[in-house]
Amino acid sequence: MSDVNIGPAVGAEVSSEGPGTPIEVLRVEGLEVAFSRYGKGWSRDRLKVISNLNLTVRSGEIVAVAGSSGSGKSLLAHAVLGILPRNAHTSGRINFMGKALTPARLKKLRGTRIAFVPQSVEYLDPLMRVGRQISPDRQAVLAAFERYRLDPSVAELYPHQLSGGMARRVLVASAVVGDPQLIVADEPTPGMSKELADKAMKHFRDLADAGVAVLLITHDIDLALGYADRVAVFYAGTTVETAPADDFDARERLRHPWSQALWQAIPANGFQPTPGHQPYAGRLPQGCLYAPRCPRKGHDCGHHAPPTVTIRGGEVSCCYAS
Ligand SMILES: Nc1ncnc2c1ncn2[C@@H]1O[C@H](COP(=O)(O)OP(=O)(O)O)[C@@H](O)[C@H]1O
Ligand code: SF4
Ligand SMILES: [Mg+2]
Repeated sequence: MSDVNIGPAVGAEVSSEGPGTPIEVLRVEGLEVAFSRYGKGWSRDRLKVISNLNLTVRSGEIVAVAGSSGSGKSLLAHAVLGILPRNAHTSGRINFMGKALTPARLKKLRGTRIAFVPQSVEYLDPLMRVGRQISPDRQAVLAAFERYRLDPSVAELYPHQLSGGMARRVLVASAVVGDPQLIVADEPTPGMSKELADKAMKHFRDLADAGVAVLLITHDIDLALGYADRVAVFYAGTTVETAPADDFDARERLRHPWSQALWQAIPANGFQPTPGHQPYAGRLPQGCLYAPRCPRKGHDCGHHAPPTVTIRGGEVSCCYAS
């Protein structure tokens, strides 16, 4: 794998048909992420943790990313934002508005046209009052705080003085203060009441309806389905399916066995967990990564990675998808 951080701009078309026409804001293609590991003496190797992530987000849509813990959701967000640890090596392509998202472009766009709601509150600067680090525009900060029922006095607090739920609301509020074209929200709702989580989702929906592209990473697929347009399903560092959110209305409308397993795990659909576990990085099976758990497994599955095909308006990586 090469260390090329971001490839040349290809693939995305920026529409010239006017503001109402959806345009491709984010395109992630064949993203791989590996980490250097240092052993005894000078020895080191690389552990590949993401092997093939693919995703697009257009203006005006919410794309939810679903998948169990460790499937690569946060690393995708960090790769887009250019904040992976120093020992991370990436390859593949990340385009923003049709052009490669280079470190120089990211520097200009991060915090303005590209907003991030991190999964952890540790991303806040511990030495700076929260209001100041969200925006120098106090009025904008207070308007965002009001929306999330945060008292204006919270702006004067330091991060360690916030309760968990309050900190999450601060993070969500911070992403919507500017004028973003893309919002990447990594698990924005844990710790919020159902009412406030719905309110946050509704806010993302309003922003999408106003033309913002929203990448919504979530554990709570049930909550996200009420607001998302499309869902990208991850498994062990790969995108296995991208489906219109409506396809989650019925199990048989989903194309990949893992998406169907996630569907079955939703409380309203019986809360049935799938036996087995996601394979660990460095110990991936040959061929399809889902094969050890797959009820549909056939002769071809164990030999090579399944091709990605488009079926009924969704993309799926499975040898036997229908
Ligand atoms: N800094 C790191 N060094 C090594 N492995 C990492 C690092 N960060 C994440 N990983 C591994 O990458 C995989 C994906 O992580 P992550 O994107 O955080 O998953 P999630 O889908 O839960 O957000 C996991 O197996 C995790 O252990
Ligand atoms: S490629 Fe084979 S093992 Fe993998 S999900 Fe499809 S049917 Fe199952
Ligand atoms: Mg995560």
